[in-house]
Amino acid sequence: MTFLGHPLHSFTVHFPIALYLLGVLLTGLALSRGAADTERFAFWSFGLSWLATLVASIFGLIDQGQLAPTDPRLNAVNAHISGGVALLIINGLLVYMRFRWADVLVRYRWPYLGLMALGAAAVLATGWLGGELVFRWHIGVIQP
Ligand code: HEM
Repeated sequence: MTFLGHPLHSFTVHFPIALYLLGVLLTGLALSRGAADTERFAFWSFGLSWLATLVASIFGLIDQGQLAPTDPRLNAVNAHISGGVALLIINGLLVYMRFRWADVLVRYRWPYLGLMALGAAAVLATGWLGGELVFRWHIGVIQP
């Protein structure tokens, strides 16, 4: 799907990647400095990254719908989608846990940080596999 000739999935994917990684960075800073404000910013980053993942995924699904059901490249798209869905679930759990327990970094520190690390792996894998779709399989490439 494009807007003013620009592909919207490519435009929107930067936001979940940047916001999720910002959330991880801010959580690390909050843990090392014990600053409550920094921890709150991390929570907001994860909240926004969840929303951004949802928006990017919707545009991605619209693009995927333009491929023929018999297109052999759909296997690669499905691997990419698995990463996106995993990210949506993990990021959603992080937001839920922090919303439910404001002291989650004390109460459930290691499960929370473990989930966060899993989400970071999902965000990197999803971005990598998305890049493969465009640069190896030439999906969504607009001809000049
Ligand atoms: C789960 C739903 C998703 C679907 C169905 C999907 C589908 C696609 C498709 C079909 C492409 C090829 C280019 C295009 O047609 O736009 C693509 C590229 C890409 N996707 Fe996704 N995607 C999804 C979620 C995500 C998420 C959550 C992220 C980021 C965390 C992401 C990151 C990327 C990246 C980085 C590219 C390469 C874009 C470029 O280099 O311009 N995708 N995706």
